[in-house]
Amino acid sequence: MDNWLPTLMTATPTEGRELAVMLSCMAIRSAQPDATVRDRLRSDYAEDADSLIADSQVVATNFATIAAANEHWRG
Ligand code: HEM
Repeated sequence: MDNWLPTLMTATPTEGRELAVMLSCMAIRSAQPDATVRDRLRSDYAEDADSLIADSQVVATNFATIAAANEHWRG
């Protein structure tokens, strides 16, 4: 896990959003390192509207951080 996030800079907002999803997944991996448990819980949140809304909020927070780091890709 050495320097797995070398930069928040991305070329485009689309890539920024992909990074936001990746950061969100990494947070879940840290919180629950056991892949078997994550696999078991996947179907719970995947079919629960509130969980999916919470999930999109986490991605939105990470995206806001990345957008700020990239000065909103103003060029
Ligand atoms: C799959 C996002 C929370 C377990 C995925 C995928 C996305 C995603 C986008 C699809 C990946 C793909 O098909 O390429 C997120 C976000 C989360 C979140 C943004 C919260 C902020 C969780 C939690 C768990 C979990 C809480 C379980 C503890 C999994 C597993 C898969 C998966 C096991 C793989 C499912 C498969 O291979 O079919 N997640 N997830 N995720 N997620 Fe999450």
